[in-house]
Amino acid sequence: MRSLLILFGCVVLSSVMAAQAPSPTAWEHDPQVESKIDALMKQMTLDEKIGQLVTYSAGAPTGPGTGRTDYQEMIAKGQLGSLFNLTGAAETNAMQKIAVEKSRLHIPLIFGLDIIHGYRTEFPVPLGLSATWDPALVERTAYVAAKEASRAGVRWAYSPMVDITRDARWGRIVESAGEDPYLGSAIAVAYVRGYQGTKLSDPDSIAACTKHFVGYGAAEGGRDYNAAEIPVRLLRQVYLPPFQATIDAGVATFMSAFEALNGVPASANAFTLTQVLKKEWAFPGFVTSDWGSIGELIPQGVANSGAVAAGKAILAGVDMDMESNVYSPHMAELVKSGMVPESVIDDSVRRVLRVKFALGLFDRPYAEGNGPDGIAPEDAELARKAAEESFVLLKNDGGLLPLKANGKTIALIGPLADDAGQMLGSWSTKSEPKDVVTLRSALTRQVEVAQGHVIYARGTDILTLSDNGFSDAVGVARKSDIVVLALGEDAVLMTGEGGSRAHLDLPGNQEQLLEAVAATGKPVVLLVFSGRPLVLNWAAQHALAIMEVWFPGIQAGPAMANVLLGASAPSGRLTASFPRAVGQEPLYYNHFSTGRPADGVDLSHPPTNGAEKYKSRYIDVPNSALFPFGYGLTYSTITYSPTTVSATTASAKEFNAGTAKLTVSAEVRNTGSRAADEVVQLYIRQTGTSVVRPVRELKGFKRIPLAPGASQKVEFTLGRDELKFWNIEMKDVVEPAQLTVWVAPDSTAGKPAQVSIGQ
Ligand code: NOJ
Repeated sequence: MRSLLILFGCVVLSSVMAAQAPSPTAWEHDPQVESKIDALMKQMTLDEKIGQLVTYSAGAPTGPGTGRTDYQEMIAKGQLGSLFNLTGAAETNAMQKIAVEKSRLHIPLIFGLDIIHGYRTEFPVPLGLSATWDPALVERTAYVAAKEASRAGVRWAYSPMVDITRDARWGRIVESAGEDPYLGSAIAVAYVRGYQGTKLSDPDSIAACTKHFVGYGAAEGGRDYNAAEIPVRLLRQVYLPPFQATIDAGVATFMSAFEALNGVPASANAFTLTQVLKKEWAFPGFVTSDWGSIGELIPQGVANSGAVAAGKAILAGVDMDMESNVYSPHMAELVKSGMVPESVIDDSVRRVLRVKFALGLFDRPYAEGNGPDGIAPEDAELARKAAEESFVLLKNDGGLLPLKANGKTIALIGPLADDAGQMLGSWSTKSEPKDVVTLRSALTRQVEVAQGHVIYARGTDILTLSDNGFSDAVGVARKSDIVVLALGEDAVLMTGEGGSRAHLDLPGNQEQLLEAVAATGKPVVLLVFSGRPLVLNWAAQHALAIMEVWFPGIQAGPAMANVLLGASAPSGRLTASFPRAVGQEPLYYNHFSTGRPADGVDLSHPPTNGAEKYKSRYIDVPNSALFPFGYGLTYSTITYSPTTVSATTASAKEFNAGTAKLTVSAEVRNTGSRAADEVVQLYIRQTGTSVVRPVRELKGFKRIPLAPGASQKVEFTLGRDELKFWNIEMKDVVEPAQLTVWVAPDSTAGKPAQVSIGQ
């Protein structure tokens, strides 16, 4: 085996750190299932085994890849164990019938699908869902998706996407939970729980798939599929934790990523796939490749043929080939020639069968319903709530929001005010524009109830440079008391896979439309629809109010109208930093300090002397985010007391032994006149440590409702898990340090308290 790895150029790096004990889940250690698998595998030919390690997109391939379309014959011969992209019960059942009735061993297929933020009931895009800071709500959205998909026979979601994303240029930031590993882990676990339920075999449960393993979000320059260089400490500290959190939550499958990570493609990376995932974390499920990612080892330059690519991928730990079509034609030969030991195939097959048994597919292979033909009212209600919670109020000068619509004329302008399709965001699978209520229709209805009225102009298209619609828009603005502008990105072209951007402005001529409308002197509320942080400098200076609404899903309109008119208060918080200029990217709050921090220097102008210049700064833009991680306003005012901590000294040894804990708290008060949900955040910094630590790190958060005038003492606990880090010896431990803690409304605010952690 070792010589084979070297043959394929893969070197399994030995672990430099202690293995972490995985917590067992019900499905992975069932002796009865294991003996059924043994019995089945004894009957399987090599061809049939390899068949279990292959998946194809049903229907014509829609992307690059070399997948086949003769899958019906393959299924009948036991040469194909999985299909994806089928979305209806009739379609899945027809294919399943071939597997169950015609194939020799009757092994059922598993049907996969990109269920990313809903199946029929489309919720806000994942970046928006993460802005709720509400894992329980995210879990409920995933449960609804699982319930709907399973009725169509789709029992495998290619979600959650848990890539840490620090660069807003990367289009796939929209699919992520943003830049922070602590929040990202909590959200990742919520998705897994929602999809997989309490038991994978429940009819409503589907297998989750944690992706993209690993480092895909660090694509150089934010360009999709690009290589990533992540030093192993950073990998352990920032990029791996959300993946590991899903293992602890019992996730059934993983997907390997496209990019070359530290020079070794993620889909041929024995260190991440075998060493970390399968050995250290003892992952019991299976790893699928991404679409065509094994074949892409050839253009990446580590394989000169499909056969070598197949061998490298399976030896590194990729159990299933998605659409590369290299396992099917080459694997048997690789085994016969001794290049790939049959024991490696057996391990992969066992993993796939384990998940199929866990899902109960052998007992109930078919879709039991017809799939959802509509949206249940309670699911629509959840979609509305999720959208409302995801909106982040970035600016609200003079209390323009909530709108006082009584008897007022409101001008609604912009290409996203009445576009149902765009509201579904990227990766909408079974959702339909006809299920969407747009802002125009919901706002018109609600404003009429308040005896006002809405006048509408599209103004421009998302991407056009023609200003033909401007005069109409300006005319409508002039006739109004208040303008609501609905501007932003094209969800399909500009966000998601292949949606990298080098500019982060409002696209097309939308900023010029904003300028033309603002020139009327009418108060402007800007709603920003985007799948990423945008550069909003001009808007931040000229619009009185700005709210980031992402792509909100089917209940976009009612949710926005409710928040605009004050039926609910905004409560979302940013999970990715909004830059002032693209040149700041990658921009993230939990960066290291330099030896020359620019703290205390006025960065609003170019340096005028040496003390201002020789700092870690740009000469033409402040270092800070325009809107930082954790930030978001509401309609009330919330104050925080100084942070208090239960002790001013502590012992690293006791933390490491698990016997020490610190309680950190603050009194949080609603001093305004409206109810609000506040997302209270706990940050830490450690100094005097063996390696540099971030200037701030999130280590806790709580979303609390606060009635006007109410206050609450919010407490957090800091123990080993929160304080440990990968130190100079690559041990994951708590070190003696000076610890600063903040209970704060965002990553730049709060009053610090200190603790000395000694030996
Ligand atoms: C490629 C994407 O990277 C991945 O996220 C997705 O699940 C697969 N295609 C399958 O569609």
